[in-house]
Formats: sequence, structure tokens, C-alpha cells
Amino acid sequence: MLIGAPDTGKTTLARQLLAAGVAAERASAYIDADVGQTMVGPPACVGLKWVGSREDMEDFSQADDLRFVGSISPERLVLQEVLATATLVEVAREKADLIIMDTTGAVSGVTGQTLKYHKMELCRPDVVVALQRGSEMEPMVGLLRRFFSAEVELTSVHPEVIPVSPEERRSHRTKRFAEALAPPLNRWRVKPTVFAPALPTGLDLSRLDDMLVGVHDGTGRCLGLGVLKHEDDALRVLTNVGEGMNGLRLGSLKIDLETFATTAADLREIMFGLDL
Ligand SMILES: Nc1ncnc2c1ncn2[C@@H]1O[C@H](COP(=O)(O)OP(=O)(O)OP(=O)(O)O)[C@@H](O)[C@H]1O
Ligand SMILES: [Mg+2]
Repeated sequence: MLIGAPDTGKTTLARQLLAAGVAAERASAYIDADVGQTMVGPPACVGLKWVGSREDMEDFSQADDLRFVGSISPERLVLQEVLATATLVEVAREKADLIIMDTTGAVSGVTGQTLKYHKMELCRPDVVVALQRGSEMEPMVGLLRRFFSAEVELTSVHPEVIPVSPEERRSHRTKRFAEALAPPLNRWRVKPTVFAPALPTGLDLSRLDDMLVGVHDGTGRCLGLGVLKHEDDALRVLTNVGEGMNGLRLGSLKIDLETFATTAADLREIMFGLDL
């Protein structure tokens, strides 16, 4: 499990470790739990990629397995993010003997520490590598060493690491959303009963317009992303997913299908008019 603030070289180190895994002929898996600066699959999801050969290292964009988180902001996703990641670690453990977990840059404050604590608790890594500038990871590392038995290695950020600007981050995310929702999209009409969480009776369905959803099969897997549209008094999901759709998961994001810009949406506010 690789942890560190934004721009500390986590993803680069993950790739180096996977390349070493391939060279040593180990069945490897990469779990990309960074829902914002995603490498595997679309943003707002945790993705798994099997890495068994050098060819597998060339393109990480297509996920072999996906779990929907529904948000890109750490404050809104601790439960979903931890469970999505832990579920994919379990999937990976069945086949891989080297699993590399890449994580979001949220490493401080109550949210970052709660997120990392519970990821440790459920994912049970053998080794944690914490990448730090100065001594910024020492509180987190102290905490992990106190509460867990995993080996925790602390290392300095490589001097050549190049920071990515907020604009570049946004543009990377927009591009990945655009790829995941590229036309031509199917426009499936959906019944109000297919959602998790369930919709309250009598909800004005237009309130769900532009909501991002995870398109799920019936085995817990996310097949891809979709966007809800309320038109002609009916609710439709626009998605690349062709078959196997069994249910739709609501997160806490709305997305504009022209610009792929996202805004935070509070489901409780949408469903019950409560501003919690
Ligand atoms: N060891 C290294 N030597 C040279 N350049 C590096 C090294 N590690 C990372 N970089 C460069 O620094 C930049 C940031 O690295 P990387 O994307 O791995 O960081 P990260 O911690 O995953 O960032 P994020 O918070 O965006 O996920 C990249 O352009 C990468 O090529
Ligand atoms: Mg990264």
C-alpha cells in the first residue's frame, strides 16, 4: 500500500514495483484507489488491473474490475472508498501474489487519517510505503505503526518529482470522464425501483437530472458509469454499458455531459430537501 500527499511519486513507484513483479514472473494486480487522479478505469471508481506481462503495463486505462465510489472528494466517500478498495483487494488476493495499492493524496486531518486507518484495517497490507516531503508523514506513520502490525516504511520524495497543477488535475479528470461517457451512449429508460439507495415515494424525478451513477450487475460489480436524464416525464440512464445492467448506484456527483464538469450533490438534500 503506497501512501503520500499529492505529487509524491506514488503512481510512479507503483509502476516500478509492478514492472519488478512482471520481471520476477509474479502474478500481480494493481489497485487504483485514487478516485480523482485515476489511472485504471473512470474517476469516482476504484479499479483493478491484472498485470501478468510487460504488455499489460502499457495501458492501465481499462479496468478488469471496477467498484463505484460516486465521489471524488474525500469528505464524502470514506465508507464507499474503503469498502470499494477492500472488496477489490479480496478479488486480487484470489489470483495475485503481488498486489500494489495506489491511494489518494488525502493523508492528513480527520478525513485523511480516518480513510487510511480503515483502509489498513480492511485491506491488511503486508507493507506500507509512505512517501514524504520533510516530515509530513510522520504523524500518519506513527499512527499506523501503533495500531497495526504491517511493516511501515518511510521514504523521501524523489527530488525530480514534478507537481501537477490543479488545472492539469481537473483536465485529466475531465478527459477520463469523457472517455467513460463517450458517444454513442445507450439511453435506457429506468424504473424508479432500480436505485441504491432507494428513491423515496413521490420524489420529483427531475431532481436526479445529471446525477452520475454506477451501472451495476447483480454480483456487486460496477460495469461502468452512467448519467441520469429526466426527459418527457421519464428517467433515462445514458451509458456505454450495453448489457448486464441490473441496478444503478447513486453517489454524490452531478456531471455535465457537454463539458464533463462535475459538481458535488448531496443525496439527502436531493431526496428529502434536507441540507445536512
Ligand atoms: N522517481 C522519480 N524520478 C523522476 N520523476 C519522478 C519520480 N517519481 C515521480 N516522478 C514524476 O513526478 C510526477 C508525479 O509523480 P506521480 O504521478 O507518480 O505522483 P503521485 O504521488 O502518484 O501524484 P498524484 O497525487 O497526482 O496521484 C510525474 O510526472 C512523475 O513522472
Ligand atoms: Mg498518483
